[in-house]
Amino acid sequence: MVYLDYSATTPPHPQVIARVQEVMTHAWGNPSSIHRYGQRAALVIERARLAVAELLGVTPEEVIFTSGGTEANHLAIFGVAQQYDQPQHIITSAVEHPAVSAPLTALARRGWQITTLPVDSTGRVDPQMLESHLQPNTVLVTVIYGQSEVGTLQPIADLARVCRAHGVLFHTDAVQVVGRLPVNVPELGVDLLSLSAHKFYGPQGCGALVVRRGIDLQPWLYGGGQERGLRSGTPPVALLAGLEVAARLAMTEFLPQQPYVSHLRDYLRRRLLELPGLQLTGSWEQRLPHHVSVVWEQGDETHTGQTLVHLLSQRGIAVSSGSACASGKTQPSPVLLAMGYDERLARCGLRFSLSHLTTPSEIDLAVDILAEVLQQLTPTLSCR
Ligand SMILES: Cc1ncc(COP(=O)(O)O)c(C=O)c1O
Repeated sequence: MVYLDYSATTPPHPQVIARVQEVMTHAWGNPSSIHRYGQRAALVIERARLAVAELLGVTPEEVIFTSGGTEANHLAIFGVAQQYDQPQHIITSAVEHPAVSAPLTALARRGWQITTLPVDSTGRVDPQMLESHLQPNTVLVTVIYGQSEVGTLQPIADLARVCRAHGVLFHTDAVQVVGRLPVNVPELGVDLLSLSAHKFYGPQGCGALVVRRGIDLQPWLYGGGQERGLRSGTPPVALLAGLEVAARLAMTEFLPQQPYVSHLRDYLRRRLLELPGLQLTGSWEQRLPHHVSVVWEQGDETHTGQTLVHLLSQRGIAVSSGSACASGKTQPSPVLLAMGYDERLARCGLRFSLSHLTTPSEIDLAVDILAEVLQQLTPTLSCR
């Protein structure tokens, strides 16, 4: 099997697995306990906090551990929203991950005003457009950093600058970026930033929200008061130990290998463009280093990106499409629709996501098999 779906998740690094096992065996105490078992576990967590803080250029106190990217986004959004007795205004983009757009939809049902900024054909938000939509009651702006489906990077520092100038909090979902590109939170100027360990060779089920000093949030989960009272619940000590290892490896191994990964990405792009009927999606100048996405021009309602994913999977190639399946029918991708693709093409997205573990021969094999799959489908489609 050739795995080219590293945006969905990454295999835990062997050092991560070893450390998780070691901590589960030897430091399984409850970090809130004051005896030695608890203290040993608490130390593990503080080491993890230090590593994540170092990776992002913040202080350890600014790192709040969560169960992953989804929960970090919820803590950012509801943590701000719950400070207000009356519904206020939040601004977001049209290309968010559902882990941001769905909680905002839930707030809209409670009377909050949500402005969704349009994007250009590459999926980018315009900072001037953001500025023109700020209102006196805007309490949060949340914009994804690296778009998971089309790979586009947003001008986060510029967007954050606009918000800071107007005294509005700015959150970014950086789940696809952390561990893949250097991220320095103070330089970016964001107030809140979400990350997830399993996107950079750490364990699934843990992540963090960076909350800059001085920013007040309401808790998302109430209870024992862990994580500065913002996220009650016994933390997953072993998973966080794995996150520590992943964060350290990001600094020493993953980030230094990004030039190799970008080189592979550009090679894959060139090879895909040799095939008929594929159109690149997203920005090529402002792009995640491991990400290539296309739409398949010949697709239709029944032959979609998901069809390609299934056929490729049968031939041993693991990739993904951006569109979801509901009631047996492929839905158009909201991200591609927002970028101006019509409904037919918005069902026909295909994503390849790479890693330092990917080899050029894996890419060659994937492209050759895709070429065969497309050829196999062409007679069916030309009989329409
Ligand atoms: C951009 C983005 N945000 C949030 C998430 C959710 O993260 P998690 O799986 O850790 O909840 C993902 C995962 O696919 C993602 O790509």
